[in-house]
Amino acid sequence: MTIFDTVPLVELRERTSIKWSQYPPDVLPCWVAEMDVPQPAPVVRAVTEAMRLGDTGYDAEGLNGEALAPFVQELYGWEIDAATTRSVPDVMIGAAEVLSLVTERGAPVVINPPVYPPFAQFIEHAGRRVVRAPLGDDGRLDLDVLDSAFARASGGAYLLCHPHNPTGAVHTSDELGAVGDLARRHRVRVVADEIHAPLVLRGAFTPTTTVIPDAIALHSASKAFNLAGLKSAVAVPGPDAVDDLARLPEIIRHGVSHLGTIAHAAAYAEGRSWLAEVLDGLRANQALVEDLLAAQVPKARWEPPAATYFAWIDLRAYGAEPSRRLLQHGRLAVNDGATFGAAAEGYVRLNLAASTATLTEAVRRMRLALG
Ligand SMILES: Cc1ncc(COP(=O)(O)O)c(C=O)c1O
Repeated sequence: MTIFDTVPLVELRERTSIKWSQYPPDVLPCWVAEMDVPQPAPVVRAVTEAMRLGDTGYDAEGLNGEALAPFVQELYGWEIDAATTRSVPDVMIGAAEVLSLVTERGAPVVINPPVYPPFAQFIEHAGRRVVRAPLGDDGRLDLDVLDSAFARASGGAYLLCHPHNPTGAVHTSDELGAVGDLARRHRVRVVADEIHAPLVLRGAFTPTTTVIPDAIALHSASKAFNLAGLKSAVAVPGPDAVDDLARLPEIIRHGVSHLGTIAHAAAYAEGRSWLAEVLDGLRANQALVEDLLAAQVPKARWEPPAATYFAWIDLRAYGAEPSRRLLQHGRLAVNDGATFGAAAEGYVRLNLAASTATLTEAVRRMRLALG
Protein backbone atom coordinates (compact mmCIF):
# COMPACT_ATOMS: atom_id res chain seq x y z
CA MET A 1 0.00 0.00 0.00
CA THR A 2 1.52 3.34 -1.07
CA ILE A 3 0.29 6.93 -1.27
CA PHE A 4 -0.81 6.13 -4.82
CA ASP A 5 -3.32 3.58 -3.48
CA THR A 6 -5.31 6.13 -1.48
CA VAL A 7 -7.53 7.87 -4.08
CA PRO A 8 -10.03 5.46 -5.66
CA LEU A 9 -10.32 5.44 -9.45
CA VAL A 10 -13.96 6.64 -9.32
CA GLU A 11 -12.79 9.72 -7.43
CA LEU A 12 -9.89 10.32 -9.82
CA ARG A 13 -12.38 10.19 -12.67
CA GLU A 14 -14.17 13.18 -11.13
CA ARG A 15 -11.06 15.28 -11.81
CA THR A 16 -11.46 17.54 -14.86
CA SER A 17 -7.77 18.13 -15.70
CA ILE A 18 -6.45 17.05 -19.10
CA LYS A 19 -5.41 13.59 -17.88
CA TRP A 20 -9.00 12.76 -16.99
CA SER A 21 -10.89 14.64 -19.70
CA GLN A 22 -8.99 13.87 -22.89
CA TYR A 23 -10.30 10.32 -23.42
CA PRO A 24 -13.64 8.53 -22.99
CA PRO A 25 -14.23 6.81 -19.62
CA ASP A 26 -13.39 3.30 -20.87
CA VAL A 27 -9.80 4.46 -21.49
CA LEU A 28 -7.32 4.06 -18.61
CA PRO A 29 -5.25 7.29 -18.60
CA CYS A 30 -1.56 6.61 -17.87
CA TRP A 31 -0.13 9.42 -19.95
CA VAL A 32 0.43 13.14 -19.14
CA ALA A 33 2.55 14.10 -16.09
CA GLU A 34 -0.12 14.34 -13.43
CA MET A 35 -0.05 12.13 -10.33
CA ASP A 36 -2.91 10.06 -8.91
CA VAL A 37 -2.35 11.23 -5.34
CA PRO A 38 -4.17 13.04 -2.55
CA GLN A 39 -2.83 16.60 -2.39
CA PRO A 40 -0.29 17.50 0.32
CA ALA A 41 -2.33 18.65 3.35
CA PRO A 42 -0.26 21.86 3.87
CA VAL A 43 -1.01 22.92 0.29
CA VAL A 44 -4.74 22.26 0.74
CA ARG A 45 -4.69 24.30 3.95
CA ALA A 46 -2.78 27.21 2.38
CA VAL A 47 -4.97 27.42 -0.72
CA THR A 48 -8.20 27.02 1.31
CA GLU A 49 -7.07 29.78 3.67
CA ALA A 50 -6.20 32.02 0.72
CA MET A 51 -9.71 31.52 -0.67
CA ARG A 52 -11.26 32.20 2.75
CA LEU A 53 -9.34 35.47 2.92
CA GLY A 54 -10.06 36.36 -0.68
CA ASP A 55 -6.28 36.46 -1.13
CA THR A 56 -6.61 36.12 -4.89
CA GLY A 57 -4.94 39.33 -6.00
CA TYR A 58 -1.72 39.95 -7.89
CA ASP A 59 1.46 38.18 -6.86
CA ALA A 60 4.27 40.15 -5.24
CA GLU A 61 7.80 39.35 -6.42
CA GLY A 62 10.18 37.27 -4.36
CA LEU A 63 7.99 34.78 -2.56
CA ASN A 64 9.09 31.91 -4.75
CA GLY A 65 12.85 32.43 -4.45
CA GLU A 66 12.54 32.72 -0.69
CA ALA A 67 10.40 29.59 -0.57
CA LEU A 68 12.77 27.62 -2.78
CA ALA A 69 16.01 28.49 -0.94
CA PRO A 70 15.52 26.42 2.26
CA PHE A 71 14.08 23.50 0.27
CA VAL A 72 17.05 23.16 -2.09
CA GLN A 73 19.48 23.83 0.77
CA GLU A 74 18.06 20.85 2.64
CA LEU A 75 17.73 18.54 -0.37
CA TYR A 76 20.94 19.25 -2.25
CA GLY A 77 22.99 21.49 0.05
CA TRP A 78 22.54 24.12 -2.65
CA GLU A 79 22.90 27.73 -1.46
CA ILE A 80 20.88 30.14 -3.56
CA ASP A 81 20.53 33.84 -3.02
CA ALA A 82 16.76 34.45 -3.08
CA ALA A 83 17.34 38.09 -4.00
CA THR A 84 18.84 37.08 -7.36
CA THR A 85 15.98 34.73 -8.38
CA ARG A 86 13.04 35.84 -10.50
CA SER A 87 9.45 34.66 -10.44
CA VAL A 88 8.14 33.39 -13.79
CA PRO A 89 4.62 32.17 -14.64
CA ASP A 90 5.70 28.57 -15.27
CA VAL A 91 8.79 26.63 -16.26
CA MET A 92 8.29 26.66 -20.01
CA ILE A 93 7.45 30.37 -20.20
CA GLY A 94 10.43 30.97 -17.92
CA ALA A 95 12.70 28.89 -20.18
CA ALA A 96 11.54 30.77 -23.29
CA GLU A 97 12.05 34.14 -21.59
CA VAL A 98 15.49 33.21 -20.30
CA LEU A 99 16.50 31.93 -23.76
CA SER A 100 15.34 35.29 -25.15
CA LEU A 101 17.56 37.05 -22.60
CA VAL A 102 20.77 35.18 -23.37
CA THR A 103 20.50 34.75 -27.16
CA GLU A 104 19.63 36.87 -30.18
CA ARG A 105 16.50 36.28 -32.25
CA GLY A 106 17.13 33.44 -34.74
CA ALA A 107 19.90 31.94 -32.56
CA PRO A 108 20.33 28.17 -32.37
CA VAL A 109 19.21 26.32 -29.23
CA VAL A 110 20.36 22.73 -28.64
CA ILE A 111 18.05 20.09 -27.18
CA ASN A 112 18.47 16.35 -26.53
CA PRO A 113 15.70 14.28 -28.11
CA PRO A 114 13.90 12.25 -27.02
CA VAL A 115 12.83 15.14 -24.78
CA TYR A 116 9.70 16.82 -23.39
CA PRO A 117 7.93 17.84 -26.64
CA PRO A 118 7.24 21.51 -25.74
CA PHE A 119 11.01 22.19 -25.64
CA ALA A 120 11.15 22.46 -29.43
CA GLN A 121 7.81 24.24 -29.63
CA PHE A 122 8.73 26.93 -27.08
CA ILE A 123 12.16 27.51 -28.67
CA GLU A 124 10.50 28.11 -32.03
CA HIS A 125 7.81 30.25 -30.42
CA ALA A 126 10.60 32.36 -28.89
CA GLY A 127 11.95 32.94 -32.44
CA ARG A 128 15.00 30.69 -31.95
CA ARG A 129 16.12 27.69 -34.02
CA VAL A 130 16.18 24.10 -32.73
CA VAL A 131 19.42 22.10 -33.06
CA ARG A 132 19.03 18.43 -32.11
CA ALA A 133 21.71 16.48 -30.24
CA PRO A 134 20.10 13.07 -29.58
CA LEU A 135 20.79 11.21 -26.35
CA GLY A 136 22.88 8.07 -26.60
CA ASP A 137 21.27 4.62 -26.77
CA ASP A 138 21.64 4.44 -22.98
CA GLY A 139 19.29 7.43 -22.58
CA ARG A 140 22.15 9.65 -21.34
CA LEU A 141 23.95 12.67 -22.76
CA ASP A 142 26.31 11.81 -25.63
CA LEU A 143 29.21 14.25 -25.21
CA ASP A 144 30.56 13.75 -28.76
CA VAL A 145 27.15 14.47 -30.23
CA LEU A 146 26.84 17.52 -27.96
CA ASP A 147 30.28 18.75 -29.03
CA SER A 148 29.33 18.79 -32.70
CA ALA A 149 25.87 20.26 -31.97
CA PHE A 150 27.46 23.04 -29.88
CA ALA A 151 29.87 23.75 -32.75
CA ARG A 152 26.80 24.40 -34.92
CA ALA A 153 25.14 26.41 -32.13
CA SER A 154 27.96 28.81 -31.27
CA GLY A 155 26.51 32.04 -29.88
CA GLY A 156 23.29 30.22 -29.00
CA ALA A 157 22.06 28.23 -26.03
CA TYR A 158 21.44 24.73 -24.71
CA LEU A 159 18.15 23.80 -23.05
CA LEU A 160 19.14 20.99 -20.71
CA CYS A 161 16.53 18.74 -19.08
CA HIS A 162 17.89 17.71 -15.66
CA PRO A 163 16.66 15.16 -14.65
CA HIS A 164 15.74 14.17 -18.18
CA ASN A 165 12.13 13.68 -19.25
CA PRO A 166 11.36 11.00 -20.53
CA THR A 167 14.40 8.78 -19.77
CA GLY A 168 14.69 9.82 -16.10
CA ALA A 169 18.48 10.17 -16.37
CA VAL A 170 20.03 12.35 -13.66
CA HIS A 171 23.15 13.99 -15.07
CA THR A 172 26.25 13.44 -12.94
CA SER A 173 28.51 16.27 -11.84
CA ASP A 174 31.17 14.87 -14.24
CA GLU A 175 28.72 15.03 -17.13
CA LEU A 176 27.70 18.57 -16.15
CA GLY A 177 31.37 19.54 -15.89
CA ALA A 178 31.99 18.23 -19.41
CA VAL A 179 28.88 20.08 -20.67
CA GLY A 180 30.21 23.26 -19.05
CA ASP A 181 33.61 22.86 -20.76
CA LEU A 182 31.97 22.33 -24.15
CA ALA A 183 29.58 25.23 -23.63
CA ARG A 184 32.44 27.59 -22.73
CA ARG A 185 34.54 26.44 -25.69
CA HIS A 186 31.69 26.91 -28.19
CA ARG A 187 30.15 30.01 -26.54
CA VAL A 188 26.83 28.32 -25.78
CA ARG A 189 24.74 29.41 -22.76
CA VAL A 190 23.18 26.68 -20.63
CA VAL A 191 19.58 26.94 -19.45
CA ALA A 192 18.58 24.03 -17.20
CA ASP A 193 15.00 22.86 -16.67
CA GLU A 194 15.24 21.27 -13.21
CA ILE A 195 11.50 20.79 -12.64
CA HIS A 196 11.94 17.06 -11.91
CA ALA A 197 14.80 17.54 -9.42
CA PRO A 198 12.79 16.72 -6.26
CA LEU A 199 11.84 13.40 -7.89
CA VAL A 200 15.31 11.82 -7.71
CA LEU A 201 14.77 8.27 -6.43
CA ARG A 202 18.36 7.03 -6.25
CA GLY A 203 21.70 8.83 -6.08
CA ALA A 204 22.40 12.53 -5.78
CA PHE A 205 21.14 15.51 -7.75
CA THR A 206 23.77 18.09 -8.73
CA PRO A 207 22.26 21.52 -9.43
CA THR A 208 23.51 22.71 -12.82
CA THR A 209 24.56 26.17 -11.67
CA THR A 210 26.89 24.70 -9.01
CA VAL A 211 28.98 23.27 -11.86
CA ILE A 212 28.26 25.75 -14.68
CA PRO A 213 28.35 29.22 -13.07
CA ASP A 214 26.84 31.14 -15.99
CA ALA A 215 23.88 28.75 -16.34
CA ILE A 216 20.33 29.71 -15.37
CA ALA A 217 18.05 27.03 -13.85
CA LEU A 218 14.27 26.82 -13.68
CA HIS A 219 12.48 25.31 -10.70
CA SER A 220 8.88 24.72 -9.73
CA ALA A 221 6.94 22.58 -7.26
CA SER A 222 4.52 21.66 -10.03
CA LYS A 223 5.79 18.18 -10.94
CA ALA A 224 6.95 16.86 -7.57
CA PHE A 225 3.91 18.16 -5.66
CA ASN A 226 1.30 17.65 -8.39
CA LEU A 227 0.50 21.35 -8.80
CA ALA A 228 0.57 21.66 -12.60
CA GLY A 229 -2.76 23.49 -12.61
CA LEU A 230 -1.58 25.97 -9.96
CA LYS A 231 1.19 27.46 -12.02
CA SER A 232 4.24 29.12 -10.58
CA ALA A 233 7.99 28.80 -11.16
CA VAL A 234 11.27 30.49 -10.41
CA ALA A 235 14.44 31.18 -12.39
CA VAL A 236 17.70 30.80 -10.45
CA PRO A 237 20.93 32.29 -11.87
CA GLY A 238 24.39 30.82 -11.36
CA PRO A 239 26.88 33.25 -9.80
CA ASP A 240 28.00 34.47 -13.26
CA ALA A 241 24.45 34.86 -14.61
CA VAL A 242 23.00 37.17 -11.95
CA ASP A 243 23.28 40.27 -14.15
CA ASP A 244 21.72 38.49 -17.13
CA LEU A 245 18.69 37.36 -15.16
CA ALA A 246 18.33 40.83 -13.66
CA ARG A 247 17.52 42.01 -17.21
CA LEU A 248 14.36 39.86 -17.29
CA PRO A 249 11.57 42.33 -18.09
CA GLU A 250 9.49 43.17 -15.02
CA ILE A 251 6.24 42.46 -16.93
CA ILE A 252 7.02 38.72 -17.07
CA ARG A 253 6.04 38.32 -13.44
CA HIS A 254 2.60 39.78 -14.21
CA GLY A 255 1.69 36.31 -15.48
CA VAL A 256 2.52 34.66 -12.13
CA SER A 257 -0.48 33.15 -10.34
CA HIS A 258 -0.61 34.34 -6.73
CA LEU A 259 -2.63 31.29 -5.71
CA GLY A 260 -0.05 29.14 -7.49
CA THR A 261 2.77 30.81 -5.63
CA ILE A 262 0.97 30.27 -2.29
CA ALA A 263 0.53 26.58 -3.14
CA HIS A 264 4.13 26.11 -4.27
CA ALA A 265 5.52 27.93 -1.21
CA ALA A 266 3.45 25.70 1.12
CA ALA A 267 4.70 22.59 -0.71
CA TYR A 268 8.34 23.65 -0.41
CA ALA A 269 7.98 24.69 3.24
CA GLU A 270 5.87 21.84 4.60
CA GLY A 271 5.62 19.11 1.96
CA ARG A 272 8.75 17.09 2.72
CA SER A 273 7.06 14.12 4.44
CA TRP A 274 4.42 13.94 1.69
CA LEU A 275 7.21 13.99 -0.93
CA ALA A 276 9.03 11.18 0.90
CA GLU A 277 5.86 9.07 0.63
CA VAL A 278 5.66 9.82 -3.09
CA LEU A 279 9.28 8.77 -3.63
CA ASP A 280 8.72 5.52 -1.68
CA GLY A 281 5.61 4.85 -3.73
CA LEU A 282 7.46 5.46 -7.00
CA ARG A 283 10.26 3.05 -6.05
CA ALA A 284 7.60 0.42 -5.24
CA ASN A 285 5.78 1.13 -8.52
CA GLN A 286 8.99 0.78 -10.53
CA ALA A 287 9.52 -2.68 -9.02
CA LEU A 288 5.86 -3.59 -9.59
CA VAL A 289 5.89 -2.60 -13.26
CA GLU A 290 9.25 -4.27 -13.82
CA ASP A 291 7.76 -7.58 -12.59
CA LEU A 292 4.49 -7.13 -14.46
CA LEU A 293 6.23 -6.34 -17.75
CA ALA A 294 8.67 -9.24 -17.39
CA ALA A 295 5.76 -11.64 -16.90
CA GLN A 296 3.27 -10.26 -19.43
CA VAL A 297 5.08 -8.12 -22.02
CA PRO A 298 8.45 -9.89 -22.00
CA LYS A 299 9.84 -8.27 -25.14
CA ALA A 300 9.41 -4.77 -23.62
CA ARG A 301 12.76 -3.15 -22.83
CA TRP A 302 12.97 -0.78 -19.87
CA GLU A 303 15.38 0.19 -17.09
CA PRO A 304 13.82 1.76 -13.97
CA PRO A 305 15.28 5.28 -14.06
CA ALA A 306 16.98 7.18 -11.21
CA ALA A 307 14.37 9.96 -11.32
CA THR A 308 10.90 11.07 -12.47
CA TYR A 309 7.69 9.06 -12.47
CA PHE A 310 7.88 7.71 -15.98
CA ALA A 311 8.63 4.34 -17.50
CA TRP A 312 10.16 4.96 -20.93
CA ILE A 313 9.47 1.62 -22.58
CA ASP A 314 10.92 0.28 -25.82
CA LEU A 315 8.12 -1.71 -27.48
CA ARG A 316 9.75 -1.96 -30.91
CA ALA A 317 9.79 -5.76 -30.67
CA TYR A 318 5.98 -5.62 -30.83
CA GLY A 319 5.79 -3.77 -34.16
CA ALA A 320 4.89 -0.25 -35.28
CA GLU A 321 2.77 2.41 -33.56
CA PRO A 322 2.39 0.74 -30.16
CA SER A 323 0.75 3.77 -28.51
CA ARG A 324 -1.99 3.87 -31.18
CA ARG A 325 -2.59 0.13 -30.78
CA LEU A 326 -2.62 0.39 -26.97
CA LEU A 327 -5.30 3.04 -27.22
CA GLN A 328 -7.35 1.37 -29.94
CA HIS A 329 -7.18 -2.23 -28.81
CA GLY A 330 -6.30 -1.93 -25.11
CA ARG A 331 -8.15 1.31 -24.22
CA LEU A 332 -4.92 2.42 -22.52
CA ALA A 333 -3.60 5.97 -22.98
CA VAL A 334 0.18 6.39 -22.79
CA ASN A 335 2.42 9.04 -24.38
CA ASP A 336 3.64 8.18 -27.87
CA GLY A 337 7.46 8.02 -27.95
CA ALA A 338 7.61 9.66 -31.39
CA THR A 339 6.24 12.93 -29.95
CA PHE A 340 9.50 13.22 -27.93
CA GLY A 341 11.62 12.83 -31.08
CA ALA A 342 11.12 11.01 -34.38
CA ALA A 343 13.76 8.38 -33.56
CA ALA A 344 11.72 7.26 -30.55
CA GLU A 345 8.99 5.71 -32.70
CA GLY A 346 8.16 2.39 -31.04
CA TYR A 347 8.65 3.72 -27.51
CA VAL A 348 5.92 4.72 -25.10
CA ARG A 349 5.97 6.70 -21.84
CA LEU A 350 3.88 5.17 -19.07
CA ASN A 351 3.02 7.28 -16.00
CA LEU A 352 4.00 5.37 -12.84
CA ALA A 353 2.38 7.80 -10.40
CA ALA A 354 -0.69 5.59 -10.13
CA SER A 355 -2.19 2.90 -7.92
CA THR A 356 -1.19 -0.75 -7.85
CA ALA A 357 -4.60 -1.56 -9.38
CA THR A 358 -4.17 0.97 -12.21
CA LEU A 359 -0.65 -0.17 -13.08
CA THR A 360 -1.65 -3.84 -12.94
CA GLU A 361 -4.59 -3.14 -15.24
CA ALA A 362 -2.38 -1.01 -17.53
CA VAL A 363 0.07 -3.85 -18.10
CA ARG A 364 -2.81 -6.32 -18.58
CA ARG A 365 -4.17 -4.02 -21.30
CA MET A 366 -0.71 -3.81 -22.85
CA ARG A 367 -0.53 -7.59 -23.05
CA LEU A 368 -4.00 -7.80 -24.63
CA ALA A 369 -3.35 -5.02 -27.16
CA LEU A 370 0.13 -6.09 -28.24
CA GLY A 371 -0.71 -9.78 -28.34
C1 LIG B 1 10.76 18.73 -18.28
C2 LIG B 1 9.50 19.50 -18.08
N1 LIG B 1 9.54 20.84 -18.12
C3 LIG B 1 8.44 21.59 -17.95
C4 LIG B 1 7.20 21.00 -17.73
C5 LIG B 1 6.00 21.86 -17.59
O1 LIG B 1 6.17 22.80 -16.58
P1 LIG B 1 5.30 24.12 -16.53
O2 LIG B 1 3.86 23.70 -16.49
O3 LIG B 1 5.75 24.80 -15.26
O4 LIG B 1 5.65 24.90 -17.75
C6 LIG B 1 7.12 19.61 -17.67
C7 LIG B 1 5.82 18.96 -17.47
O5 LIG B 1 5.67 17.78 -17.48
C8 LIG B 1 8.29 18.85 -17.85
O6 LIG B 1 8.27 17.51 -17.80
